[in-house]
Amino acid sequence: MAAGWWTLLTLRGLLPAGFSIGTGVLVGAIERHASLVVPLAVVGALFVLLQVLGPLHTALSANLGDRMAAWLYDEMTRACVSVPGIGHLEDPDLAADLQVARDFDRGMTAPPLSTSMDFIAGGLVDMLAGLAQACVLFGFAWWAPVALGGAWLSTHWLLRESAVWRDRNTDEVRQAQRHADYAYRLAVDPPAAKELRIFGLPDWVLDRFVSARRRLHRLQYEATRMRERSVLASLALVLAANVLVLWLVAAAALDGRLALGGLVVYASAAVGTSMIAFGGLNWALDGAAAPVAAVARLKAAMRRAGTVASGSWPADGRPAHRLAIRDVTFAYPATPDRPVLSGLSLDIPAGTSLAIVGQNGAGKTTLAKLLCRLYDPQAGTIEVDGIDLRDLDLDSWRRRVTAVFQDFARFEMSLRENVAPQAALGRAASDEAAPAGRCGESDAAVDDLVSGALADAGAGGLASLDTVLAKGYSGGIELSGGQWQRVALARALTAVRLGAGLVLLDEPTAQLDVRGEAEIFERILAATRSCTTILISHRFSTVRHADKIAVVADGAVAELGSHDELMSRRGRYWKMFTLQAERFATGTPEEGEEEVTFDVLA
Ligand SMILES: Nc1ncnc2c1ncn2[C@@H]1O[C@H](COP(=O)(O)OP(=O)(O)OP(=O)(O)O)[C@@H](O)[C@H]1O
Ligand SMILES: [Mg+2]
Repeated sequence: MAAGWWTLLTLRGLLPAGFSIGTGVLVGAIERHASLVVPLAVVGALFVLLQVLGPLHTALSANLGDRMAAWLYDEMTRACVSVPGIGHLEDPDLAADLQVARDFDRGMTAPPLSTSMDFIAGGLVDMLAGLAQACVLFGFAWWAPVALGGAWLSTHWLLRESAVWRDRNTDEVRQAQRHADYAYRLAVDPPAAKELRIFGLPDWVLDRFVSARRRLHRLQYEATRMRERSVLASLALVLAANVLVLWLVAAAALDGRLALGGLVVYASAAVGTSMIAFGGLNWALDGAAAPVAAVARLKAAMRRAGTVASGSWPADGRPAHRLAIRDVTFAYPATPDRPVLSGLSLDIPAGTSLAIVGQNGAGKTTLAKLLCRLYDPQAGTIEVDGIDLRDLDLDSWRRRVTAVFQDFARFEMSLRENVAPQAALGRAASDEAAPAGRCGESDAAVDDLVSGALADAGAGGLASLDTVLAKGYSGGIELSGGQWQRVALARALTAVRLGAGLVLLDEPTAQLDVRGEAEIFERILAATRSCTTILISHRFSTVRHADKIAVVADGAVAELGSHDELMSRRGRYWKMFTLQAERFATGTPEEGEEEVTFDVLA
């Protein structure tokens, strides 16, 4: 396709010069009363080609531009997901860049690539055509193409400095785009729909959207306005060169030094040289090159921000003895001088359970992320059986760890794929690629696995395994918050059955009803008996069952011990526990004694 594009470009670039010469020959033949058949046929053929090749080239350009955009999107998606850490997705600067890069083909910072490619094609054709026409003038005088071509070429340079082709991808445009985008998403995404109505915000959203869009259009308009001075200078230069060349061509014709045919050739060549100018070639080139450069830059930046280097030790069967967190200090890249964890140490014997409690923002989830090696600590180490986590093979470690995150993913996929993505999706991928993947379970084995995990999570009979868990798909259903949480739990339990040995549960029962919580917690404990379990929870009724409890405060462990030990110490844990117990005793409505059942979809 690219070869065809360049071929058409060359043809279209050379045709106008051929047409000028052909017309001159035709006029000469008329003047000499010679046969007109050949010149007429040639001029006619050139004319038809000139008309036909343009639209063909446009279609090819659009196609090529679309393919390039698709390729860039592929590259960007790959760059986002192929990095093993998540720092690149949580870095605010990169997030802004990513957002713009993601929208590059929507015509806000530059025209879509399909349009740009047509602009570029047109611009290059004109440039080539103008230069070819200028070359024809060599037949008249050696200096004529230099003067005329030079004048027209200079307009590129002069207007390059003007606002016509100024970069539209500025911080201000990005900000306006962000605001407009956010307002739009607020309006169309279901999660915010409730709040918008309850808190009376529709007008605010509309205002915000409209004003951000207006600002964007104003910025675009300003960026594409011309600057008068450079335009005037261009005009003066071009006018002078044209007057000079056309004057001398006319003088030569009047003196009889130039025949009528020659006059036609040189006059039309001189006029045709003007094709060199304008056309916005530079601007289109910049517009098309910017996203390519941005994706390349983002790829590199994301790799830097999100990479956690894999070690080489296999993690199979670990932790077999202990998991030790030693003096760990960690700050998020966006706030390097505000460490979330500072000097946190914990010793967790393999096969035991540890509960972590602490106030909102204490760093509990952050610690879970470090254990998954989504980030590395800035100081201190996490050791698995005495081996630094960084020295373990990353994939092998991730197979050993499973987690229910506080903000667990709700995949728009079937129940089966939500519960056992590694088996169900891994199988689909390995079916396509190689016959035996890591999770080469048969269909029946996967279904057994999924059903067992769902039963353990108290979600047996939730829906058929093929049901897609999102509205908008055929037969798709929407789950309640608590039902989703059970699915996320089942996903972790599946991983345990597939060999995970460290289970991280970050508020795994926050959305479950009281009866469900107690019952499920029993089952989780049974299902993860052989695992090392870390439970993060604000519910002390669950926390108290853990072998050890750590209270995290000010980035470090403030108290550590069993429930009984901590109660007798009458410190922070005792205070938090008593507060919550009192609330239970006085009986808030939601903790009442009524029969709690959970609806499951048949
Ligand atoms: N991606 C992030 N980038 C920057 N700061 C973050 C990020 N995630 C969390 N933080 C900050 O780190 C601190 C600890 O957050 P974390 O989520 O670990 O708290 P938590 O103990 O899990 O709280 P909660 O009980 O509310 O879940 C908070 O002050 C939070 O603002
Ligand atoms: Mg948290």
